[in-house]
Amino acid sequence: MAALVLFGGGGDLAMRMLLPSLYFLEQERLLPDGLKIVGVARSAESREEYVAKVREACEARTGADWSPEDFARLEPRLDYLALDATSADSLKQLRERLGDDDALTFFLAVSPSLYGGIVKALKGAGLATDQARIVLEKPVGRDLKTFLEIDDAVAHAFREDQVFRIDHYLGKETVQNLIALRFGNTVFEPLWNSQNIDHVQITIGETVGVGDRWPYYDEYGALRDMLQNHMLQLLCLVAMEPPSDLDPESVRNEKVKVLKSLRPITQEEVERVTVRGQYVAGLSEGQPAKGYDEERGEDSDTETFVAIRADIDNWRWAGTPFFMRTGKRLPEKRTEIVIQFKPLPHSIFDYEDGEPAANKMIIELQPEEDISLTVMNKKAGLDGRMQLQPIKMSLSWGFRGKGDTAPRRRIAYERLLLDALKGDSTLFVRRDEAEQAWKWVDEVSDAWADGGIKPQEYVAGSWGPPLADTLLARTGRTWNTSE
Ligand code: BG6
Repeated sequence: MAALVLFGGGGDLAMRMLLPSLYFLEQERLLPDGLKIVGVARSAESREEYVAKVREACEARTGADWSPEDFARLEPRLDYLALDATSADSLKQLRERLGDDDALTFFLAVSPSLYGGIVKALKGAGLATDQARIVLEKPVGRDLKTFLEIDDAVAHAFREDQVFRIDHYLGKETVQNLIALRFGNTVFEPLWNSQNIDHVQITIGETVGVGDRWPYYDEYGALRDMLQNHMLQLLCLVAMEPPSDLDPESVRNEKVKVLKSLRPITQEEVERVTVRGQYVAGLSEGQPAKGYDEERGEDSDTETFVAIRADIDNWRWAGTPFFMRTGKRLPEKRTEIVIQFKPLPHSIFDYEDGEPAANKMIIELQPEEDISLTVMNKKAGLDGRMQLQPIKMSLSWGFRGKGDTAPRRRIAYERLLLDALKGDSTLFVRRDEAEQAWKWVDEVSDAWADGGIKPQEYVAGSWGPPLADTLLARTGRTWNTSE
């Protein structure tokens, strides 16, 4: 029989994301027969208390999709154990509880500082079996050095094919759709290069502040919390060469090549190609919001916003910059990738706003999931000369207007949990990918440290420090605004 063990089973990630995802998988009857789910944490609770907490969390997260009958099917799978997961002796209790279950998946939803200790204890307790799998939540490490330390400890107990480094952005439907769009169609591939694409923008905007998460966040900041993983993964999927097949190794080989081609950011250029910001008090979604330092309780040099220009030094992308920005307390919760095509070489039309707008593809992950292409179209009418207007063609039309409803928006972890249980690592990060990403990010943080570059202030509710606009303006470009 199979068992999924959630270390940090009572924590925020487990309650907000993992257990509601398991509920949805149960609802769709996708969980393997007989799968046990064991929450492990330190707090002394009974199984009944834990189940009640899980029920509350699932009900709160699933809203209109809540069904007591579906939860009643999930409930018998749930179990709870209070123990210190870094002690091999304590983990022997877990081994007894699991009995002869052999298909074990361990999910580490705890602080990365505990990863090394837990893995060692798993090995000590005889739980790191040949068939076991281990799922590590990002960020693994704080820099290349700590990543390698943790990963070496993991490698001591598990083979690489047993290790699943999670980046929940890869579980998002639109991110997978990007692979379908690029490699399931012939029309885009000939255009997907620096001859036709002027630049790419990746934005992950969040309206939330750091709030109570500051003990974790203050050590990491936006560069390590978002850019090292989510943003670089999105960049890889946009930029990678077509893999030979969808085998996990083929896809990940291509992603590593992109990461290796990222131009290092040197101390001389760091001020020109990066922007660090930190929010001060302002208005967020119409409500007064505290500054980061006030939430933190003292002054801090951690960035809550980062914008970077990345250049990919290979044949396909030479000359096409990738601009990335992410931050807390921005005006919108918006995640999008903008593929900005080059302008017309010569216009023969009248266009009220000057030159006809260049084509633009927007891959939107949040708040809506959609892929759209802006094309120029003739304005209907007989008067005057031919007039143009931009029209957005949207892929989500596929389920609009036919009486179909849009599919439920999945929690990204649903797909990833299922894949980890099946042993499919395509949507997980390989060791050398994480390594390359840390290498590039370390260069940026070292250059910031050596150059004494502190975060610039931005008012909560704005799109980051004004320098983030300058980053693009300097090259004659602007950030995309939502319509
Ligand atoms: C997490 C970060 O990985 O992603 C958080 O640690 C961030 O700081 C979150 O808020 C954003 O995820 P999503 O799916 O809401 O964009």
